[in-house]
Amino acid sequence: MQKKTIDETQQGNTLVLDDKKENTKKLFIESYGCAMNFSDSEIVASILNEQGFNTTQNLEDADLVLVNTCSIRDKAEQTVRKRLEKYNAVKRDLNPKMKVGVLGCMAERLKEKFLDEEKIVDMVVGPDAYKDLPNLLAEVESGNDAVNVILSKEETYGDIAPVRLNTNGINALVSITRGCDNMCTFCVVPFTRGRERSRDPQSILEEVNDLASKGYKEVTLLGQNVDSYLWYGGGLKKDFKDASEMQKATATNFAQLLGMVARAQPKMRVRFSTSNPQDMTEDVFHIMAKHQNICNHIHLPFQSGSDRILKAMNRQHTAEEYRALAHRMWEILPDCTISQDIIVGFPGETEEDHQDTLQLMEDIKFVFGYMYKYSERPGTLAGRKLEDNVPEETKKRRLTEIVNAQRNHSAHRTQQFIGKTTEVLIEKESKKDPNQWSGRNEQSIVVVFPKENYQPGDFVNVKIHDCTSATLIGTPAPLSVQG
Ligand code: 5AD
Ligand code: SF4
Repeated sequence: MQKKTIDETQQGNTLVLDDKKENTKKLFIESYGCAMNFSDSEIVASILNEQGFNTTQNLEDADLVLVNTCSIRDKAEQTVRKRLEKYNAVKRDLNPKMKVGVLGCMAERLKEKFLDEEKIVDMVVGPDAYKDLPNLLAEVESGNDAVNVILSKEETYGDIAPVRLNTNGINALVSITRGCDNMCTFCVVPFTRGRERSRDPQSILEEVNDLASKGYKEVTLLGQNVDSYLWYGGGLKKDFKDASEMQKATATNFAQLLGMVARAQPKMRVRFSTSNPQDMTEDVFHIMAKHQNICNHIHLPFQSGSDRILKAMNRQHTAEEYRALAHRMWEILPDCTISQDIIVGFPGETEEDHQDTLQLMEDIKFVFGYMYKYSERPGTLAGRKLEDNVPEETKKRRLTEIVNAQRNHSAHRTQQFIGKTTEVLIEKESKKDPNQWSGRNEQSIVVVFPKENYQPGDFVNVKIHDCTSATLIGTPAPLSVQG
């Protein structure tokens, strides 16, 4: 299993909209970081489409360049800075009229500093301020800089229909919560994306129904911490006088929302990300078991297998609680896979702590994972209080060890499919072989097989005869032929 980070795999996707004839201005928008950023860029593009912008993939043509940024690790920020240098060069040499705006987490973290440090930036917009873009643009067009980094306790963009950009028309992201209240000590997200809030279930259902009517086959419900999704009857938390009044109102929790989405579109696959061990409840497993179309895969970061480190990270679970949760899940969902996020080299991590992480990996055998070296983030509790004292060489070595362990565990998981038939949703042509389709099964494992007469968007039963650590290799085996 190759070490992959979300900010590396999804780097720099440029989004393209269907043209509106009456629009005369050109927007170049690209996104870095997590799925939430990609989803947000669809909202931004939708707002700007109403402001006279069509999209372009050429920097040289753009009137406005927007970059949606990630702050989760220092490396992610460095990537964005390099892009800003590139915009600068294009603006200087080829396109002096171009304006540049920074969106997302880095905008929120650095605020006005961006205008001083990066001379080329005209506009800085935080993740909760996208509805203010028309005003900010007017300011920029009149020759001034514009900044809005106000975080909101309510904004969910539930009333904006995102435009789907550059997608395959098969999988779509639907955001259900924004922000995070967990305050893991290493994480910048609570500072850049603000307090956690849940989106009205009705607007979520409308979006999912709309996607189904447009032919989409799979939705992923998105949030920093989906398990703590909670919608109070007809209102937001602030609409209630006190906690007891709030409790009296009918609430919708994540398990219920998941059930509602699955029932609304029984032919669509439903996925969700990210889960958090401290908030995940058994009723989610029961809902997954009840609805065939909810995929048997959970992305459940654990970060470290050492209780001492988990405590220093302010994670509200122990390694043992994590194991217990996974085993309870397998009692209810025997076929379900789990993927992980791990951080190595958190301040004070000893060799023994590292061995605890390897042990937890060994016990669970995750299907895949995203593994990172600790990166100190300014403003976080760990950044302020703890010395980043694990030497770079040690971090590197520990990362290599967990990446190797993960490769073995992924291989163990894929081998279990050999000889079995698994349902695949075709997403695209295989990168390695133009005669093969590539898709995923519900356990979120990539499957490749000969194209025959199938098309992207088809569900196909595939009999698996071979595998690598990350991919299943098979041939179509319709059930009527006997898989
Ligand atoms: N350093 C390294 N990795 C981090 N993550 C979050 N903050 C940091 C940091 N400061 C990782 C966590 C999280 C994932 C999205 O990014 O593993 O689950
Ligand atoms: Fe960051 Fe922890 Fe919230 Fe995830 S759960 S976004 S790691 S604070």
